[in-house]
Amino acid sequence: MQHGDVTDREYTGTGIVVRYDVTRCRHVAECVRGAPEVFEPGRRPWILPDADPDAEHVADVVRRCPTGALHYQLAHGEPERPDPTTTVTAVPDGPLLVRGDLRLNGPDGPVAETRAALCRCGSSANKPFCDGSHERVGWRSDASTDEEPGCDRPHSESVVPPSAT
Ligand code: SF4
Ligand code: FES
Repeated sequence: MQHGDVTDREYTGTGIVVRYDVTRCRHVAECVRGAPEVFEPGRRPWILPDADPDAEHVADVVRRCPTGALHYQLAHGEPERPDPTTTVTAVPDGPLLVRGDLRLNGPDGPVAETRAALCRCGSSANKPFCDGSHERVGWRSDASTDEEPGCDRPHSESVVPPSAT
């Protein structure tokens, strides 16, 4: 999904602007765990960047979002920093989590990215991104790929960010 679509919303604070694309959120809740005062699923708006006066900390939490549903722009102009090393992590029965200085070829051409959850079940309606369809269709990954290191958390957890502002 391209930034600027209605599914992609901006939340403006004094030191940082946070963008959220609901179509790419897989509810892993790294944001809620990292800065619960900023990311509160039961509140409207659910993202309040100024709830944490340390914009760099908010940026750090946004970078933990494994799917790329969250991005940011710091007020002093520094662009979002990609991981220096590109990594790919297979989520058991789920997508490939990719991090780095990425160029993704989507339906609208190449797009620069820093983080993404890429569909590997073939059922996503938002390719190349995972849209959660693997759960709906009950897709199962090969057992050998489930043993890759670094995937220490189940893909779906109980804290669910909202589908709108
Ligand atoms: S995928 Fe959704 S819940 Fe998980 S860190 Fe990103 S925005 Fe938060
Ligand atoms: S892996 Fe999630 S929709 Fe395909």
